[in-house]
Amino acid sequence: MSTSINNTPKIKRVTVPDIASRKNGEPIVSLTAYTAPMTKILDPYCDFLLVGDSLGMVLYGMESTLTVTLDMMINHGAAVVRASNHACIIVDMPFGSYQESQSTAYRNCARVMIETGCAAVKIEGGVEMADTVKFLTERGIPVMGHIGLKPQSVNINGGFRPHGFDSSEALKIKEDAESISRAGAFAIVIEGVKPDLAEEITREIPTVTIGIGASAECDGQVLVTEDAIGMFSDFTPKFVKRFAEVGEEINLAVKQYADEVKTRTFPSSEHYYVRK
Ligand code: KIV
Repeated sequence: MSTSINNTPKIKRVTVPDIASRKNGEPIVSLTAYTAPMTKILDPYCDFLLVGDSLGMVLYGMESTLTVTLDMMINHGAAVVRASNHACIIVDMPFGSYQESQSTAYRNCARVMIETGCAAVKIEGGVEMADTVKFLTERGIPVMGHIGLKPQSVNINGGFRPHGFDSSEALKIKEDAESISRAGAFAIVIEGVKPDLAEEITREIPTVTIGIGASAECDGQVLVTEDAIGMFSDFTPKFVKRFAEVGEEINLAVKQYADEVKTRTFPSSEHYYVRK
């Protein structure tokens, strides 16, 4: 903790180098965050909060992440930055905003950083994105990679399925990890891959790995918050542990509210304004 100019204590956020330095250290804790109220709850517990493009499915009811726009990511990213003061904030680059060319990627990533105040961006891809990762990091944009199950590639990869169970796919994922690491990514999300492959990658590359449906041996873990607290029940992947049933709690609260409105027991005198 440092002190600001008027002597009030200033809480220091977790930085990108802090995250990068956690190789083989204390596991990195992270969750997705899309809104200000949820961010305020998650922020003290997390090393980084990911404004994931999963928000398209979780908040907007989209079928995949492919229809998420840059403006959506910027609006939610800015809300999460405003509501946090501890975690490092990382924003997902949506489909179509970085794949076309290095200069388009730079322009869009810089726009996300300028308009949200986030510390870093995440892009999906392996060997094919390595030059872009290098281009961005050399120009001041910290990049988190994302390999294995890449939700933006579901139309090519045959849906949301586990990866790395056949040897040629495992080899490709390993090459993806190595090339993104060499290109300068400060961390790599490994999603939906065979646990021993995630462990081997974690052992062999110097970059921190963040597992989701991968292995407890990764350098950290991330989950979609709404999955983990039982608020997104359309589909729960096998790798998600439900740490709470918040959706059920909301259901009970709303049912009680509806009952009390219908029976005129809410509002009661304690909720009325009275002249003092
Ligand atoms: O969009 C997202 O939430 C993600 C995480 C699941 C890693 O990419």
